[in-house]
Amino acid sequence: MPSKNAASPAHLARCLSATDLVLLGVGAIIGAGIFVLTGIASATQAGPAIILSFLLGGVACIFSALAYSELAASMGGCGGAYGYALKGVGEWLAWLVGWDLLMEYGMDAATVASGWSGYMQSALTAVGIHLPVALTTNPFNGGVVNLPAVFVIFMMALVLTRGTKTGARFNNAIVAIKLLVIALFIGIAAFHFNPANWHPFMPFGVTGIVQGAGLIFFAYIGFDAVATAAEETRNPQRDLPIGIIGSLLICTLVYIVVAGLLTGMAYYPSLNVSSPVAAVLLRAGYHLSGTLVALGAIAGLTTGILVMYYSATRVYLAMARDQLLPQTFLKIDARTHSPNQLVWFMGIIMAVVAGFFPIAQIADLVNISTLAAFVAVCGLVMLLRRTQPHMPRPFRMPAGIVFSSLGILFCGYIMMNLPVLTWMGYGIWMLMGLAFYWVRRAFVTPADG
Ligand code: ALA
Repeated sequence: MPSKNAASPAHLARCLSATDLVLLGVGAIIGAGIFVLTGIASATQAGPAIILSFLLGGVACIFSALAYSELAASMGGCGGAYGYALKGVGEWLAWLVGWDLLMEYGMDAATVASGWSGYMQSALTAVGIHLPVALTTNPFNGGVVNLPAVFVIFMMALVLTRGTKTGARFNNAIVAIKLLVIALFIGIAAFHFNPANWHPFMPFGVTGIVQGAGLIFFAYIGFDAVATAAEETRNPQRDLPIGIIGSLLICTLVYIVVAGLLTGMAYYPSLNVSSPVAAVLLRAGYHLSGTLVALGAIAGLTTGILVMYYSATRVYLAMARDQLLPQTFLKIDARTHSPNQLVWFMGIIMAVVAGFFPIAQIADLVNISTLAAFVAVCGLVMLLRRTQPHMPRPFRMPAGIVFSSLGILFCGYIMMNLPVLTWMGYGIWMLMGLAFYWVRRAFVTPADG
């Protein structure tokens, strides 16, 4: 077995503060979930009780966020859950967790890039620019390539290759725009809240609330990405829990307020549109604000891609340093401290997926792989409390065993309610991962790279 992290050519620079981490989390979390899925989920699944779906989703995630915080503060590393599994349960299970994370972060970025493409096309259409269908649609849906989705991924590659601090500054600026347009929406919607729109409050019953939670779970994905910034954080033991839990709490609050006002401003059946937050403002005659919200949504999606893309490269880096993935792209640029070759390599893979594959099915795979990672992290907290009780834990999850069990139950329950097709796709991905692992173990010696 190769020595872990030995003689690593890849040293990242410690440049991120607690504020950077919170904004990194908010950058990753707020995106297509609130700007697109809220409308669909309230119109078709939960009605105004979508706020309870958001509450349920937030509660399910808080246990995982606490578990991530405990492990990230104790163990650090840029591999997130992969690194914790390596220390907790050994190489091949850790490999599976890492493979799962590559799916989560890499495919999330590709999915959100596709959503970005849709919003961008609407914005261009609004100013009279029409892109040909062949260049905006993947071959499975009658086009040739989704070029805007490819374009935004390469733009984010350019940002990431300028270095993490530059990437974080870019993220912070865009997150500020995103939060401002959300505040604008809240400011307007608060004066147009019509209590009559909340009757009936639970048109689809409790079942609708739970199903709604399954759909809007996507909106919460991203706080875990903060854990992969451990090696670039100045004070990781203190700041990682702040970044992970802080960003989740901020977003949960934002989501509940926005969902409550959205369903209070418009009757829920009318929200089944692709840009509900902007649409209700436009319908109420707020044309400038509606347009600003639509632009804010594009900003939101942009940082979502950026942070998930960043995390995918860090997980790859951690796995490759441990000789579990090819070493070819590990070089860190001396000036920007960024793994530039790796950024481009992963960008090309994501661009191919975003440009040429149908994205709806891939989004489901993102959900299931994230839930599986959350289950793994909660399970690791329980296991490590038993096997390594004296490990220093700068942050200790309160009621560790009870809360980890609840995290597993909540996430497991949402997983069970995902479609069979999603399970099959996920199973195939994990089997491919196992095959890759054993072939590499059998034929590639560490020195081969
Ligand atoms: N939570 C992210 C979003 O809603 C993935 O876009």
